[in-house]
Amino acid sequence: MASLTNKRILLGITGGIAAYKSADLARRLRDAGAEVRVVMTQAATGFITPLTMQAVSGHPVQQTLLDETTENGMDHIELARWADLVLVAPASANFLAKLNQGRADDLLSTVCLATDAPLAVAPAMNQQMWLNPATQRNVFGLKQLGIKLFGPGSGDQACGETGPGRMLEPEELVDLVAGQFVTGTLQGITVMVTAGPTWEAMDPVRGFTNRSSGKMGYAVAQAAVEAGARVILVSGPTALKAPERVEPVNVTSAREMHDAVMERVAAVDIFIGVAAVADYRPKAVAEQKIKKGPDTLMIELERNPDILANVAAITDGPFTVGFAAETENLLEHARDKLQKKHVDMIAANRVDQTELGFDADQNALTLISTSGQIELEPQPKTRLARELIKHIATGFHAKNTTEDSRQTYR
Ligand code: CTP
Repeated sequence: MASLTNKRILLGITGGIAAYKSADLARRLRDAGAEVRVVMTQAATGFITPLTMQAVSGHPVQQTLLDETTENGMDHIELARWADLVLVAPASANFLAKLNQGRADDLLSTVCLATDAPLAVAPAMNQQMWLNPATQRNVFGLKQLGIKLFGPGSGDQACGETGPGRMLEPEELVDLVAGQFVTGTLQGITVMVTAGPTWEAMDPVRGFTNRSSGKMGYAVAQAAVEAGARVILVSGPTALKAPERVEPVNVTSAREMHDAVMERVAAVDIFIGVAAVADYRPKAVAEQKIKKGPDTLMIELERNPDILANVAAITDGPFTVGFAAETENLLEHARDKLQKKHVDMIAANRVDQTELGFDADQNALTLISTSGQIELEPQPKTRLARELIKHIATGFHAKNTTEDSRQTYR
């Protein structure tokens, strides 16, 4: 099946009998992973109701250019920016003519003019109208403008005639839409990232935590989205806003993070533990604020679950990547963690240099796996995260290929 994970498709519907197929098209686009928003022309609403399209797309349908009452709506510029691709299906002869002329007299034509996303049209009309030289001149013009023509197909028409002008079937259109996107290295893959610190309360106002801004984990989640993955970001308390298109799960303590991960891990292909999880928590949490008392205060701590090790221990579980933050003997400790936690890869990260690591925007990593060691040079965390994701994708695909061939051999 075509994959459109994380892709934003703006579906334009114009007036034509084929509009009844647009509901199926929207549903199939969503099944392939896309987010779909619908804009309908006035004429389209005569063939299919906005309510139907709202139900299948999951968003309110937008119809007019100047409508202050569209509470949940985006204006034409926002819509134009939002889209990764605009598909007009069905596209009537009149709409092709308008598009070729660059008119902007309704919401859909205005969005088409305002977007810099790829634009595709799926013409649908009577065969005489399609073959008319005026339409063919418009089609020629649209091609010159770089607008993609999906179809039309040929065959029996709603008007009783036979010939070219039928809108392509929804499944053909979904394949054509998917073909417009460069397939990322993690297309169709589910990635889970843990990020930020955890907070282990000792009383209602105090607790233990680890130093972590969450920047690296959030950048890794963002890079995985860019590579086409569905991304679940399980984050401890940070000041950061979750990147767009990730599924955020916010937690506070290590045990909450552990539970949030374990609840969702069955659907995960790659697990990346970037969080600075507190290894211990206070054994008892005081219900009220602890008052000052003697000169010394003993607080007993107990071990938290090791999330990464528990994920790595799952039979046929995800490809696991751990982070190792060390202040000394970096590579030795990192190799040790690779073996002890049985993970597929460790990203070792020196935190003793102020310009790198913790709160910094820059970082450098050494990737260690059983197949060797790779150095990723100091660079902004966003760029570094993209490089890291590239190597993780390579490792993941290599492992899966080996396992598949082993299964075939058996
Ligand atoms: N980690 C985890 N759960 C824990 C502790 C750590 O998932 N309770 C993960 C981190 O997200 C990271 C990796 O394990 O990916 C390494 O964490 P680190 O704290 O550096 O190592 P530890 O295993 O805790 O060992 P030590 O504290 O002895 O260095």
